[in-house]
Amino acid sequence: MKITVFGSGYVGLVTGTCLADVGHDVLCIDVDQAKIEGLNQGVLPIYEPGLGAMLKRNHSEGRLQFSTSAERGVEHGQLQFIAVGTPPDDDGSADLRHVLAVARTIGSHMTGYKVVVDKSTVPVGTADKVRREIATALAARQTELEFDVCSNPEFLKEGAAIEDFTKAARIVIGTDSERVRGLMRECYSPYNRNRDKLMFMDLRAAELTKYAANAMLATKISFMNELAQLAERLGVDIEQVRQGIGSDPRIGYHFIYPGCGYGGSCFPKDVKALTRTALDAGHDAPLLNAVEQVNQRQKQTLFHKLQQGLGNNLRGKRIAIWGLAFKPNTDDMREAPSRSLMEALWDAGASVSVYDPEALNECHRIYGKRTDLNLAATRELAVEDADALVICTEWKAFRTLDFAWLKTQLRTPLIVDGRNLYAPQDVHRAGLAYYAVGRGDSL
Ligand code: UGA
Repeated sequence: MKITVFGSGYVGLVTGTCLADVGHDVLCIDVDQAKIEGLNQGVLPIYEPGLGAMLKRNHSEGRLQFSTSAERGVEHGQLQFIAVGTPPDDDGSADLRHVLAVARTIGSHMTGYKVVVDKSTVPVGTADKVRREIATALAARQTELEFDVCSNPEFLKEGAAIEDFTKAARIVIGTDSERVRGLMRECYSPYNRNRDKLMFMDLRAAELTKYAANAMLATKISFMNELAQLAERLGVDIEQVRQGIGSDPRIGYHFIYPGCGYGGSCFPKDVKALTRTALDAGHDAPLLNAVEQVNQRQKQTLFHKLQQGLGNNLRGKRIAIWGLAFKPNTDDMREAPSRSLMEALWDAGASVSVYDPEALNECHRIYGKRTDLNLAATRELAVEDADALVICTEWKAFRTLDFAWLKTQLRTPLIVDGRNLYAPQDVHRAGLAYYAVGRGDSL
């Protein structure tokens, strides 16, 4: 099938590349000329395991092309995926400017039947807006052409995106058209062989499903973080409680890891956008508000633990931070807990020495050169002369640590662990204090 994907960001590139990989003829469009030039030379704008090799292979075999020409994009695909960004507006709602601009472009240039597929995370009712935008553009050309709009939200996790796409748990498609069902079934058939993963539903139900999934996952995390706060005050080890409740199949072990707060481009943005949608619909959404509030508070927890361990005045202290990305296997630092921590430390007059296996460049891009930020090339260099060590991201390479060695490096023998990586007794045995999240011993 001929497929166009508007927006060569995270979702667009993964979608386009995975669809090309099963033989579709895919054209990816982006307004960013430098990005498209890079992609044509095999340079990826993001870090995602496995994506680079797959992209280059399909590009060199001619099934995956990149262009800035929106007109060419509209001409190319019978399926027109919209995968452009929906950044949060000032009031927390999703900004649909880019999505609607693509819809207008499609309406302005199409010459035959198209299925417009909303892939970006967009609020309930967006498909109707996209439909209106296309109809208006067609009317301006005094042209009548058939088209359909459907919703096909994405459930990819950064760092595991290829696997999530190729082995999706479900493929949600919101549509009211039989024709669309047929075409979407054909599009996804290579990834739909073992069992039928396609879930057709109403358009608005598909749109809400995406937000509901992310809000549910964020709720699980905030719930555990709230319990972790309680566990600390009660002298209980939350890790034991986690295992105790996870063993109930109705609860399950997934997504109940307490930590230093959820980050990334999705949960924070989507919880806020859903809260906004609820308000607009006349519901004050107390639970969603609480999920966000608990997370904001949790992102401050590492700073407070440092104060607890080093004294309230952190001026002049040097803090080593391992892990900057909002989670492992990505260089993405959007809304990362590490940022709240670094910024709080700078405000308090402390400096940081940071290491991350992938996100150092991103950190430099965000914060530039500053005297209170040292980008260390290894985790060992980061702890040199540091007062204490904080772990913000659970990169695999951090899972083992020579505690005795660490003790010789730090001015104060203190690990603040935002990801509960170590057995407290191992750390204590080496003579270090260990403040983790929701573990009795951090009292
Ligand atoms: C999330 C969803 O998991 C995807 O299904 C969804 O498609 C995506 O958003 C999106 O809307 O595009 P992602 O943001 O890549 O994916 O990251 P997650 O792996 O879900 O992690 C989000 C945050 O939650 C991270 O900061 C992570 O550290 C935190 N987390 C996760 C916890 O604190 N505890 C947990 O138990 C799990």
